[in-house]
Amino acid sequence: MNILGIETSCDDTSISIVSDGKKILTLLSLSQNDAHKAYQGVVPEIASREHLKVIYSLTEKAISNSKIPISQISAVAVTTFPGLIGSLVVGLNFAKGLAYRYNKPIIPINHLIAHFYSNFFENDIKFPFIGLLISGGHTALFKFDSFEDYTILGKTIDDSCGEAFDKVAKHFDLGYPGGPIIDNLAKDGNSNAYNFPLALADIKKYGLNFSFSGLKTAVIHFRKKYKTNQNKDEKLEDILASFQNAVAKTLVLKTMKALEKTGIKRLVISGGAAANSEIRKSFMILKNNGIEIYFPPLNLCSDNGAMVAGLAYHLFEKNLLNKAEFLSLDAKSRMVEMKRNSLIT
Ligand SMILES: Nc1ncnc2c1ncn2[C@@H]1O[C@H](COP(=O)(O)OP(=O)(O)OP(=O)(O)O)[C@@H](O)[C@H]1O
Ligand SMILES: [Mg+2]
Repeated sequence: MNILGIETSCDDTSISIVSDGKKILTLLSLSQNDAHKAYQGVVPEIASREHLKVIYSLTEKAISNSKIPISQISAVAVTTFPGLIGSLVVGLNFAKGLAYRYNKPIIPINHLIAHFYSNFFENDIKFPFIGLLISGGHTALFKFDSFEDYTILGKTIDDSCGEAFDKVAKHFDLGYPGGPIIDNLAKDGNSNAYNFPLALADIKKYGLNFSFSGLKTAVIHFRKKYKTNQNKDEKLEDILASFQNAVAKTLVLKTMKALEKTGIKRLVISGGAAANSEIRKSFMILKNNGIEIYFPPLNLCSDNGAMVAGLAYHLFEKNLLNKAEFLSLDAKSRMVEMKRNSLIT
């Protein structure tokens, strides 16, 4: 069964056709980094306009590259939440038009659950597993019993992991997006040069929730000190490597606790920051404790249409909407359980 996946929840327009939830027949993505660069962050209004400019031609190209005639596409899967509302609306309305014209059903997809699916193309991962999502908008620990049956064990109460990378890079004037830039510079730094705080490390008090805002502020203040102390031999790369180390340590600490609490020995990591080399390295320590660990392929860490089409294959039976149903389908900016500023106790 071939499913066409449409992803426009943030600043990547991505279209893919996936066969039987496993084989990516085509995956075309256009990043909007250039459009947002001047603002060093995503501007929602610009994001939706950029999606609108390219979604038609990108889909046309993806279908033609796949060599699959539209008649052999069984359904259109589209991210409907959570994300930037304007961006989601562009993808959803495009999906509706396409499905209406070609008489296909639509499968609405939760973007966060789709991120985990990026791990399933190369691996047959069994349930249950602990899922750690580290993306630009979210940081959270999940317990998955199936793709439809999951519990949130902890989440960020302020900045997400990727957001902390982006904001630190912004304050250091390094460019956007900050994650890959910091990852690269930190390779020449000493990750033990400075001891930045591990936020909410007291698990008894804060459970499995995360906070990256304090760490970000600590690093930014350190930078101010760094600027006025130019003659000292403080290296920018050391600061970045130490920041990255603090992020990785926090993630490992909370994830270990989640595994321990649930007794689950399988861990699936997803989201843009899953590409980070220090985070990948730090998690390897869990392998010694007999934990099965999965990271997505580097090209599938960030938003992509393949994860949308892949997940849809498993939700096909229950979540399919026909023409009479999908026309009234709405996009939602939030997933209620993921609201920030509340501690899960
Ligand atoms: N090597 C890296 N190290 C750390 N962070 C990274 C790296 N590569 C990308 N990122 C971060 O990943 C984030 C983008 O990831 P992703 O596309 O999954 O997020 P998003 O889709 O914007 O957010 P969400 O999925 O929560 O809606 C950015 O914050 C970026 O800085
Ligand atoms: Mg995403």
